[in-house]
Amino acid sequence: MKETPPKSKPEWLENAIFYQIYPQSFYDSNGDGIGDIPGIINKLDYIQSLGVTAVWLNPCFVSPFQDAGYDVADYYKVAKRYGTNSDLKRLFEEGRKRDIRILLDLVAGHTSIQHPWFMESSKPERNQYTDYYIWTDAHWKWEIPGYRVVSGYSQRDGCYLTNFFYSQPALNYGFANPDPNHPWQQPVDAPGPMRVRQELKSIIRFWLEMGASGFRVDMAGSLIKGDPGNRETMKLWQEIRAWLDVEFPDACLISEWGVPSQAIQAGFHMDFCIPFGMPGYTALLRKAFGPGPGTDPYGFSFFDSRGHGNIMEFLDEYLGHYQKILDMGLIAFPTGNHDINPRISKGRSTTDLELVFLFILTMPGVPFIWYGDEIGMRSLDYLPSKEGGYNRTGARTPMQWSEDTNAGFSTAATEKLYLPIDQAKDRPTVLQQENDPDSLLQRVRRLVAIRKTHPALQGSAPFKILFAHPGEYPLVFLREADQESFIIAVNPFSHSVEAEFPYLSNSVPQTIYGAAAGLIANNNLWKIHLPGTSGGIYRVAKS
Ligand code: NOJ
Ligand code: CA
Repeated sequence: MKETPPKSKPEWLENAIFYQIYPQSFYDSNGDGIGDIPGIINKLDYIQSLGVTAVWLNPCFVSPFQDAGYDVADYYKVAKRYGTNSDLKRLFEEGRKRDIRILLDLVAGHTSIQHPWFMESSKPERNQYTDYYIWTDAHWKWEIPGYRVVSGYSQRDGCYLTNFFYSQPALNYGFANPDPNHPWQQPVDAPGPMRVRQELKSIIRFWLEMGASGFRVDMAGSLIKGDPGNRETMKLWQEIRAWLDVEFPDACLISEWGVPSQAIQAGFHMDFCIPFGMPGYTALLRKAFGPGPGTDPYGFSFFDSRGHGNIMEFLDEYLGHYQKILDMGLIAFPTGNHDINPRISKGRSTTDLELVFLFILTMPGVPFIWYGDEIGMRSLDYLPSKEGGYNRTGARTPMQWSEDTNAGFSTAATEKLYLPIDQAKDRPTVLQQENDPDSLLQRVRRLVAIRKTHPALQGSAPFKILFAHPGEYPLVFLREADQESFIIAVNPFSHSVEAEFPYLSNSVPQTIYGAAAGLIANNNLWKIHLPGTSGGIYRVAKS
């Protein structure tokens, strides 16, 4: 494979902090029960008050919503329920005025079955879209090892490959090694795949020219089929990145790949640390909250007050990627997203959550806050599935703004809401937390502000582990830049802990945030004492 080392990244990424918005659940401006783009514009001052610098918006395009918009029927048009293209353009502009960049979701691998390309492609007569999707060459060929196909859909004699649900037919980017026994498998440079590639570029260009700052790319690693090691898919993205570097050098591409060491090499500016691809993420934050050691089939997360987690389950994997990419790209680290249920608040107190934010907001890469996590919104278990959400639905409920009707999300009749709202008496709201200096919201704001003030805590500043042992607490690490060094320590365990680690400096540490821990330098062997469920950021002289 030809290796094209990624070019320098857009400068704004270095201190970026993202906020992810699920448009249908954020704020409903016209009382129809569904969040919309004017609603997001309405809440931009709030978003700005968090200190975040960018927003990733889940798909907002025309769609039958069989998978919440990940089944696009028109890449060039905002879905009516969210507003118009002019509304989206206004969101880009209003965002810029507040130094907030808006990034869209690019569903590159498949469309909806209602996309006009697919409707044409499913016709038996050959036409210009015949090869836009992957069809077997005979209807009865429906057992294709390694793929899922849908049969009997139309009069076209063949089955189509799907990427996810049956309603999401895979676009044809070709096969890395077409099987001669299956002549319907086209090479990546066949005319159909080449045209689909051009369509992808046109979509990217359209929105960047309108003012979008980039894309989160859905299932980015799986465009080309039968592609061992994703080599051809990587080449495809390298080509797109090379083109972007020339035409839109300030735009950012974020992949849903889950293998940062591969995705960054493919040309993405960043890739997500998410359960899909990186089980270490789950080991860190989301293993089941079972009754006790040995009784829980899933084990424990490191961020669990019972203190039975193993930080190495996360760290070994994370460092494996981190050490391969270093300053070539960034790892995006989310508090949660629309696919992860439960939300981060599950089983955690405000102080537990503060520690999670302390960790995420001092790690290298780019932090992503899933809307509502900044106030500790809860997921609603056992909701019926909505728009293909299934078990993900409970993490997608409407934002809780105030004590007004429908938590201030919408003036619609409650039964008309996109999803039900948490009915708990003590449900968190923005308004209540605005008025409480000790609320999670205020703590998150303080942590965001600290990250933004200190380059040592940002994207590519060096990161070094000082104390991490299997089955032990705390976790202690170092972040450094030219001028400053910080020691960061987190103890999610509810009992106090102590740790010793070597560090070549004799300065007196200064507490920037959190527990005024007993952090003592002792002949280059440092000692830290942390009370239960505590952590902090400590400035030290450079080693
Ligand atoms: C990943 C998206 O995050 C998820 O929500 C969606 O269902 C699938 N890709 C299919 O597009
Ligand atoms: Ca609305």
